[in-house]
Amino acid sequence: MPKEIYLDNGASTKVDPEVFEAMKPYFTEKYGNASALHSFGLETKEALETARKIIADSLQAQHEEIIFTSGGTESNNWALKGVAFANRSKGNHIITTKIEHDCIVNTCKWLGTQGFEITYLDVDSEGFVNPAELEKAITEKTILFSIIHANNEIGTIQNLKPLYEICQKNDVIMHTDACQSYTKAELSAVDADLITINAHKIHGPKGVGALFVKKGTNLGIWQHGGGHEFRQRSGTENIHGIVGFAESVKVAFNNKEALTEMKRLRDKLIDGLLKVPESRLNGPRENRLCSNTNISFMRIEGESLIGYLNEAGIAASTGSACSSKSLEASHVLLSLGLNHEQSHGSLRLTLSKYTTEEEIDYVLEVLPTIVKRLRAISPLGKVIENVH
Ligand SMILES: Cc1ncc(COP(=O)(O)O)c(C=O)c1O
Repeated sequence: MPKEIYLDNGASTKVDPEVFEAMKPYFTEKYGNASALHSFGLETKEALETARKIIADSLQAQHEEIIFTSGGTESNNWALKGVAFANRSKGNHIITTKIEHDCIVNTCKWLGTQGFEITYLDVDSEGFVNPAELEKAITEKTILFSIIHANNEIGTIQNLKPLYEICQKNDVIMHTDACQSYTKAELSAVDADLITINAHKIHGPKGVGALFVKKGTNLGIWQHGGGHEFRQRSGTENIHGIVGFAESVKVAFNNKEALTEMKRLRDKLIDGLLKVPESRLNGPRENRLCSNTNISFMRIEGESLIGYLNEAGIAASTGSACSSKSLEASHVLLSLGLNHEQSHGSLRLTLSKYTTEEEIDYVLEVLPTIVKRLRAISPLGKVIENVH
């Protein structure tokens, strides 16, 4: 058996060795404040702007359109609140979807208490939004549409193009949360006005991300202070984090073949797990994130499954990392039309380029037995096992 199998890469990833090496000097040797005018400052300023250029190029954006933040949560909060308050005189209507990450859901809830009206679009049984539904929902008061690009729980990758065309036609700003898809799916500056990305999902460090802000987008400042980041987001830049972020992007772009192999292993895992009686795949087969597997096992509690898998050396999760400690059914799975039982029996296994075939084979060997054992100790489970 491989020693420890990490299949929770949707929650966070291991830092690449190249990334760690690139970051090191910025702790103890190159530690100047990037706003300072002495050589220490100029050195870190140069590193900051080099990193910005790498990330801008990765999105075919201009360098001043990339604003560094503390991560996905901050970028999403800023995008929504920044657009909402800057465009209040135009309207107070915001559209999003029913399958957003909690940091969008809770920001929208809060905006609802500040006089904004929020419409949550339905998704189909695989998690896709119908562009016609967006068009129908837009009113003369609509100022913003925010949609998750690749869903963190079920891996559904939205086709942004038709959605953005509708927004542009109706003078609505479009934001996409691309934390899960960045470097793994096609994404560029032509896809939205605002794009959220972060580093720790792509083998970079935690606590750093960026917001792509297309030139001309009416976005208010949310974090006031000394005027860093083109006066748009104040706070001394996290240089070691930003350098690590850019390095992780470079490494990812230099190894696109890793995505093909990840997809092959993901498909092997999905096919193998669907052989377990009473199981179903959540999310689509096509247009699915190459790292994502999400399966529901009937008559099973996802939390118990995770405990048993952990004992077998496999790290998995039930939903998004932020909500996986709660026993509430996932709002994403319920939005697909799953009932509470199907939703509670869900298991998310998320791969990375470090995932090996040996690891997948081991999961496929032990998981069906664990499911069988769990069903055997539940009276309802016994019925199912006897049927199959
Ligand atoms: C889709 C999505 N958006 C936002 C976030 C939050 O990002 P961060 O952890 O950088 O704040 C995550 C991470 O869990 C995510 O998966």
